[in-house]
Amino acid sequence: MNRVCAMRGRGMAIMPAEIESRLQRIRDDVDLQSVHSQYWLQDEFVVLDKLLPQVLIDAMVAEARLVQPRMHRNYVPGHKKGGSVSFYTLREQAPVTLNLYRSPALRWLLSRITESDLLLCPEDDPHSCALYFYTKPGDHIGFHYDTSYYKGRRYTVLIGLVERSDHCRLVARVRLKGQAEEIRETRIPMGPGAVVLFNGDRLWHAVTPLAEGEERIVLTLQYVTNQAMGPAKRLFSNLKDAFAYFGPAVLARRRSGAAGRT
Ligand SMILES: [Fe+2]
Repeated sequence: MNRVCAMRGRGMAIMPAEIESRLQRIRDDVDLQSVHSQYWLQDEFVVLDKLLPQVLIDAMVAEARLVQPRMHRNYVPGHKKGGSVSFYTLREQAPVTLNLYRSPALRWLLSRITESDLLLCPEDDPHSCALYFYTKPGDHIGFHYDTSYYKGRRYTVLIGLVERSDHCRLVARVRLKGQAEEIRETRIPMGPGAVVLFNGDRLWHAVTPLAEGEERIVLTLQYVTNQAMGPAKRLFSNLKDAFAYFGPAVLARRRSGAAGRT
C-alpha cells in the first residue's frame, strides 16, 4: 500500500472563516496526477498525507470534543462496538466540519480523483458526515464494505482526528493492480490529519479493537453519484443507522428532517 504526499508544499495557517478559499488553494496545489494514479493502482483507494492544514484539523478536533457528550454508544455482537455522532448533530454544532464536507473545492478534487461527479448525500442522511468515537476497551468494527444503498456509487473519506492508540487501526485489504494482481492487508495509521479516500463497494476494511486507556476519533464524509434510494434499501439503511450507529431517535429526526436544515 503506497501513501501519497498529496501536496507540493504545505500552506500557511488557516482561519475557520477562510476555509473555502484555503481549500481552493489546497485543490490547486495537490499533485493530482500522482494521487489519481495511486487511487486507481490501488483499486479505488488512496491515503493522502498532509492534505489538510493543521489549523483546520485542530478546529475539527475541538468540534468533536464539543459534540462528544452527544455520542450514541452502539454494540452489534460479533461485528462492532463504539460511539457515533450523526450529521444532524454536526449540522447544529460543528460549522467547520460542515464547511469542509460541503466545500465545492474539496468535492471538485475528489471528483477528479475518482472520475465521478460526486454529490453530497441528501440532508436527511445521518451518515453523510459523522464522527466515530473509539473510547472504551474493545471498541472496533469488523470487516465490511461501505455498501452504497443509493442508486449510484458511494465514496468514503475518512479523516483522522485523534489516535492515542497502539492497537486500534484501520485495516484494509488493498488490491494492487499490475501485471500480477496482489491483495495486501494493510494497517493504516489515522493520526490527526490523515485522509483516506475509497469507493465504499470496493474496499474490504475493518478497525481493530481499542485497548485500555486508549482513544481514537475519526471523521467520515460520504459522497454519492446519485442521491436517490429505493424504498427497500432506504428501510435497510434506516435500520442500520438506527441500531448500528446513531440510535433509534435518528429515525424520528429523519422523518422530520426538514427542521433545522441549512
Ligand atoms: Fe467502513
